[in-house]
Amino acid sequence: MTIQRSLVLVKPDGVQRRLTGEILRRIEAKGYRIAALAQRTADDDLLAQHYAEHVGKPFYAPLVAFMGSGELVAVIVEGHRVIEGVRALIGATDPTTAAPGSIRGDLAADTGEKVQRNLVHASDSAESAEREIALWFPTA
Ligand code: PPS
Repeated sequence: MTIQRSLVLVKPDGVQRRLTGEILRRIEAKGYRIAALAQRTADDDLLAQHYAEHVGKPFYAPLVAFMGSGELVAVIVEGHRVIEGVRALIGATDPTTAAPGSIRGDLAADTGEKVQRNLVHASDSAESAEREIALWFPTA
């Protein structure tokens, strides 16, 4: 068994809609462990580092503005193949096409805005996870 870590963010829409508990319940029910958790508002500098790979894409500016618009919940989740597993749990980026049964498929709606208010971020690779965890939890 190889224990991995993933950085999960309950985005501001998830916090505002009081879905933090439901989202974390699904992650825990799958068997993953919550190793650290912090509710906070992210500043532009942190978000610029977090989303550095998306600089220049049309959704970058609205995404950073949205992610800084309110409190979010940052979580380190641990478990065997957790990166792949949590990505499956949250579903596709686009709430309209995210599979029913996934967090986004069940709980997120396409608002027709430039930004996807899709409730959750999760690391997409082991390298991204360690980079993101170092940003959000510098002492972890
Ligand atoms: S890409 O271009 O394939 O890397 O995009 P993707 O991995 O699907 O998403 C990158 C992050 O941008 C957020 N986002 C959007 N993506 C695509 N189109 C639009 N309009 C958009 N708006 C926001 C998407 O949710 C991803 O953010 P995170 O925080 O990783 O979920």
